[in-house]
Formats: sequence, structure tokens, C-alpha cells
Amino acid sequence: MSIASKPSKSAPKAKIAYVCSECGADHNKWQGQCAECAAWNTLSEFVIESAAAGKAAASAGAARRGGWAGKVDPPKVTALKDVTHSEESRVSTGIGELDRVLGGGLVQGAVVLVGGDPGIGKSTLLLQAVAKMAATLPALYVTGEESLSQVAGRGSRLGLPLDGVNALAETSVEKILEQAVATQPRLIVADSIQTLWTESLAAAPGSVSQVRESAARLVRYAKETGTAVFLVGHVTKEGGIAGPRVLEHMVDAVLYFEGESGSRFRVLRAFKNRFGAVNELGVFAMGDKGLREVPNPSAIFLSGSASPQPGSCVMVTREGTRPLLVEVQALVDSSPLSNPRRVAVGMEGNRLAMLLAVLHRHGGIGVGDQDVFVNVVGGIRVQETAADLPVLLAVLSSLRDQPLAEQVIAFGEVGLSGEIRPVPNGEDRLKEAATHGFKRAIVPKGNAPRSGKVGSMEVIAVERLSEALEAI
Ligand code: TYD
Ligand code: MG
Repeated sequence: MSIASKPSKSAPKAKIAYVCSECGADHNKWQGQCAECAAWNTLSEFVIESAAAGKAAASAGAARRGGWAGKVDPPKVTALKDVTHSEESRVSTGIGELDRVLGGGLVQGAVVLVGGDPGIGKSTLLLQAVAKMAATLPALYVTGEESLSQVAGRGSRLGLPLDGVNALAETSVEKILEQAVATQPRLIVADSIQTLWTESLAAAPGSVSQVRESAARLVRYAKETGTAVFLVGHVTKEGGIAGPRVLEHMVDAVLYFEGESGSRFRVLRAFKNRFGAVNELGVFAMGDKGLREVPNPSAIFLSGSASPQPGSCVMVTREGTRPLLVEVQALVDSSPLSNPRRVAVGMEGNRLAMLLAVLHRHGGIGVGDQDVFVNVVGGIRVQETAADLPVLLAVLSSLRDQPLAEQVIAFGEVGLSGEIRPVPNGEDRLKEAATHGFKRAIVPKGNAPRSGKVGSMEVIAVERLSEALEAI
């Protein structure tokens, strides 16, 4: 159902598709609901190619979209084993945590989308990275949001060496690429992709079609020239980067900047990475000298309260390659509503509902008439199932208004039949907790050492939810 599969042979006419801003799916005609992701009112008109741009892009575009426009020589097939390729060459960004998230440095010709809320520090991070890399990778910093003097002012306030960094205050993709061809940077930063627009489309800058097409131009340039490109993307209130998730398909890596507005810690997470592992975390602290790396972040996501509080449980999560101590907080309160609220911040809401059902069915503890709020401290998002057990312990602790014993950690997946399942890298997690002086750990049996101890920390192995509830 490719839209380009029926090329008009006569006078070229602009081709229109209706693109969902949630999932990026194309539709031939407008409809109220997206047929792919079932979101409502997300389709907007998108001129795929204007009459002028159509011809030039036809051959490349048709191949990309799976259709075949016009009578062009068929492409030549190559045996994959005969394709010459070089090891991807990586350049260190000069920021260890950023390198880590990128999978060991920036790959030449890679296009990296950096998303996050406004004000989280995307521009700061990229300016710092660009300045550090300038000696090896001459850069073009394109700013569509700030003036050149703002960018330069920030650079000098942060004490960054700005030799080798060219800046351009421009939003037209054509002009940006013209400058790129003239100055031959090895790295381009486009801050932000929402401000860019291309002359070949009539739509307004910031619209789905402009964002998509502008990004596509930059991606094409990156692939043709081997220039690395960072695209900065603001996040829509639904959480999708730049509205169209289709950007995520076009780029090589999607990094997401997270953090609580009140906290100075920022987490950079790889959501997609063609050149490295996903879910790798980089941790930064925002200070008056910009973003500082936190190479040893394990205990920064604890609330730091002196004595244990009801409704709080410390877990050891292992996001990426490092164990992190993270505090999960729960508040359980009798609800005035007939349909009590379940609110999860930093974890998945459906998972919380499921865990509460398991707690009722297999732990005999019902919260059907209670509002349940769960929050992961520090604005970090925990996606792994190892959070199940700590979430339930925190809920229970809040329900009973009794703190867990001091210096306890927990982790473990909770199954639908009330079993506690082991999680990967249990030993690492336990060691990390022991290093930080925790005294007891409640963990799945499969993760517990035979001796029942790690260092001086006592490890309590549990197989069923009921055992875990007894253990506290
Ligand atoms: P910025 O990088 O402009 O955010 P983004 O590009 O993601 O919108 O960061 C702006 C925020 O960072 C702003 O609220 C101020 C704060 N900040 C500091 O606290 N210290 C600094 O040295 C800098 C440069 C910014
Ligand atoms: Mg910015």
C-alpha cells in the first residue's frame, strides 16, 4: 500500500498523504482515527513531494518506500559477502557518559536524535560535546532557536574551547546544507529539528511534514558524506519525539534526556541504537558550569531521608551495564472515588495494576478501595521487571503505614501466580547494595547466593509473594 507506487505520468502533481503524528503511519485519505495505532485526530496532511522535488527524489524515494516509480534501470543486486565495509570508526565525544550511551563513541555518518523536555539541557550537552570534539571533528552548530550571541555566550560562560566550531543561525534546510557543502564539517548539530523547514514543502515549520522532510534531508546528507548529525527534538506532551515517531525510524540512534525539573540530575538513555546497546544510561548533573558527568551514579536516586519512611523501598535496578540503587515510593490512601486511582510515575501503569491484582489474589491484601500512587525517585524511569517486588513492598508499607526495616533492598519479578522470579545479573546488584552498606536484601531464590550472605549483607531468598511479605 505504498503511496508512491502509482506515479502520475502526466504533469507532476504534489502527492499528499495523511500521516499520523503518533506512529508515523501513512494513509491515503484523511480519517478521524489512525488505522495503525488507533489514536484519534492525529492525522495531518503531508505533501510527500512537491512537483519540483518529486522528480529528483523519485528514484531514491521509490526504492526507499518499496515502490518503483518510472522507467529507471533496475538496481543491481550485490552478494552481501562481496560488499566491502570498514569497521565503523568511532570518535570519542570527550564526554564519557555520552560515549557510553552512544555505544562507545560517535560513529561517522551516524544520525542521532536527542529528545527531551524543553530546558532539560539538550543544547548545553551538545554544545559541550561539540566543543570537546572540535579538535578532531570540525563542527557546524545550527541553531534555530537561540541567537548566535546566546550560543557563544553560553559557550564562553561554560569555559568551552570554541575553536573549530562554526555556528549558523538558520532554519532553512537548503541553506544549511549549502553551508555544509561549503565548509565541510564532519559533525552537524541541528538544534532543533522542529524549527527547520524545507522550501520544497508548503507546510508550516514545525508541522509533521516539515519535521519529517527536514530530517530526511539531513539523514540523506549524513549518509552520502559520512558526516555525523545530532538532531535535537523537543517532546510533545504525549511523549513522542517531535510528534512523528517516524523520526525514530529514520535515525540511527534515539537518545532521550530525562530528569525531574527540581533535581539537578539528568539521565540520558538510548532508546534505539544501531551501533550499541539500548537502555544504556548516562548520568549527568546540571550545575553552574553546565552538565557534569556522574560516572559513579549508583546512589544518587535515593531520597536521602535519614530514617526509613513508610511507603518507600530501595531497589537495585540494572539499566544498561551498571547497577543503580533507586528508591520506589508508594502512597496508598482511601479513595473517595468509586473507581480508585492508580497512578504510576516512572514505571508502567498497567504493570502497577497487574501487581496490585497479584497482591490481592496471592498476598490476600486488597487495595480495591484505595488510591495507589507510585513514584520512582529522581525522575528516572524503571522499565525492568525487577521493580515488581520493591513496588509491592512499598505499597504494602504505605498501606500499613509502617516503614520497612532500615537498610533493606529488594528486587525481583512477580509472576501472575504469585511466584517471585529471578532477574538477570543478581550478583552484581547484590554486590552494589552491599557496597553501599545495606544490611538485608529480599531477592528471588534464583538470585540469592547459597551462603545467604554477600559481604556482611544478609540475603533473604523468596520464592513466593507470601514469603516476601512474611520477610518484611
Ligand atoms: P538547555 O541546554 O538550553 O535546554 P534545552 O536545550 O534542552 O532546552 O538548558 C537550559 C537549562 O539548563 C536552563 O534551565 C538553565 C540550565 N543551565 C544550568 O543550570 N547551568 C548551565 O551552566 C547551563 C548552560 C544551563
Ligand atoms: Mg535548546
